[in-house]
Amino acid sequence: MTLLTTWPESGPETVVRHTSDPVEIAAALAPIGVRYEQWPVRAGVAPDADAGTVLAAYRAEIATLTAEEGFATVDVAALHPADDPAWAERAQAARQKFLAEHTHEDDDEVRFFVAGSGAFYLHAGGEVHAVLCEEGDLLGVPRGTTHWFDMGTRPSFTAIRFFHEEDGWIATFTGDDIALRFPDFDTLRAARAEGGAA
Ligand SMILES: [Fe+2]
Repeated sequence: MTLLTTWPESGPETVVRHTSDPVEIAAALAPIGVRYEQWPVRAGVAPDADAGTVLAAYRAEIATLTAEEGFATVDVAALHPADDPAWAERAQAARQKFLAEHTHEDDDEVRFFVAGSGAFYLHAGGEVHAVLCEEGDLLGVPRGTTHWFDMGTRPSFTAIRFFHEEDGWIATFTGDDIALRFPDFDTLRAARAEGGAA
């Protein structure tokens, strides 16, 4: 289940908000310009389905969002555990890529989770919002928003990505180590499984 946890940017000692209610999540993120919504999950799309199958399954929603937002390209990013000795190394490299706070100056970061999960951390308005996204979640982070993304130590997700620019989605790192001061993806997932706040 999707989970939003909000803390003051000073640290995670105080929890400002902790909710799994999609309406509350959308309302909490709207003031910082972040779009959150849920799409009905299509049955029969395997987590390891090829990109064509994934895009075909969500063709209607993709067309609506693309018309609304003017996206130029759409693709599918997927990473799932594999019986491959090199997998752990590849997963670790993928995780590290966007684990530090950054912005994208020339494009929004828009993702729809077809399967699996990942956590977006949005640093805006004096707060940090951790959005633990799962299948059916669409999150749109406007260009220029400081954020980071954690897929965990054992990444497993399939996501549709939307772009305005062919090569506009480049990370500019802020150099702030704020990400190290907040619970990571694994911690959020473990805390949720226990029914508490991280
Ligand atoms: Fe990013």
